[in-house]
Amino acid sequence: MPSHKRLFIPGPVEVDPEVLQACARPAIGHRSTEFRALYRSLQPGLRWALGTEQPVYLITGSATAVWELAVRSCVRRRCLHLTNGAFSERWAQTTLDNGKEAGTLAVPWGRANRDLEALRRELERGVYDAVALVHSETSTGVLNPLAEIAGVVRQFDDVLLLVDAVSSATTLEIPTDALGIDILLVGVQKAFGLPPGLALCVASDRARARAATIPHRGYYLDLLEFHRRHEQEQTPTTPALPQIFALQRQLARMQAEGLQARWARHRAMAERTRRWALEHGFGLFAEPGYEAPGLTCIANTRGIDVEKLAAWLATEHQVVLDKGYGKIKGQTFRIAHMGDLEPAALQELLGWIEQWLARQG
Ligand SMILES: Cc1ncc(COP(=O)(O)O)c(C=O)c1O
Repeated sequence: MPSHKRLFIPGPVEVDPEVLQACARPAIGHRSTEFRALYRSLQPGLRWALGTEQPVYLITGSATAVWELAVRSCVRRRCLHLTNGAFSERWAQTTLDNGKEAGTLAVPWGRANRDLEALRRELERGVYDAVALVHSETSTGVLNPLAEIAGVVRQFDDVLLLVDAVSSATTLEIPTDALGIDILLVGVQKAFGLPPGLALCVASDRARARAATIPHRGYYLDLLEFHRRHEQEQTPTTPALPQIFALQRQLARMQAEGLQARWARHRAMAERTRRWALEHGFGLFAEPGYEAPGLTCIANTRGIDVEKLAAWLATEHQVVLDKGYGKIKGQTFRIAHMGDLEPAALQELLGWIEQWLARQG
């Protein structure tokens, strides 16, 4: 493997060499018996990892593609977006860009969408047919209270629940079916620890029934086309085969680790990073009690030069540190501890940052 800068950014994440190697397997025909066997073999592991008995569709594209799929196939007229950061805001804009109406229940960046009464009041107006939220807002490191939100949405029969689990899936338990989630979407380059280029989508029976009533769902991202092809153990178009080979390898690795152990590893690394930040005079950008297990957004309350720190880490230690996202760039920096990262590697990074801080005096 050529030497490279190790990624500590919240996606894409560092990929294990064994998984990378799986990408190099020669291609197979995507209408072949061999592909169908591969597709079939992935389903039990994907269902296990994503807390569902529903099919898991393999979508060639990044997570944003599945935002579009969800909106085009499942929003009849108007979607209520719970926003609290860059990605949830962009999903709301994507809904508008796809010709659907979008309302927002917005809270400031760093806060969780936890006002359940406000959510209930909005839904009681009867003008929304879907609710969209980002479980782990990667721009701010906030974890939304998914079970509580789902509990409210499920009281409204005609309202579908669309959930972006891009930086949360497999970092903690998401009982997709039990919570009544209608669309769960994941990009594999984050918590799944794969190279980018593939996204996963779970859809409920309700979501498919809704899609059947909605015209102009497109073709490339039509939920029902994915389902039709799923029944043939295929994808609608030529899929990203290297990522699918890697996914097969990664699911086997996840099964060897065990989901409980994977969640515990993420929880421990998140706790370690938060403790470290506070002990070193920084703050935490996420409001207390709502911190994501897959990444920590550190508030730069010491006023360090984040650009300089990142440049030093890149040159001296060949690692890539995130410098904060969007409007909070520099006021924050993020440490990702998702995917296959081990506590020892995280500790190494924190040690280097300590060295740099000590030199600054
Ligand atoms: C929570 C969340 N949703 C969606 C996206 C968009 O993902 P992609 O760039 O894979 O389309 C990201 C990217 O960082 C994200 O963090």
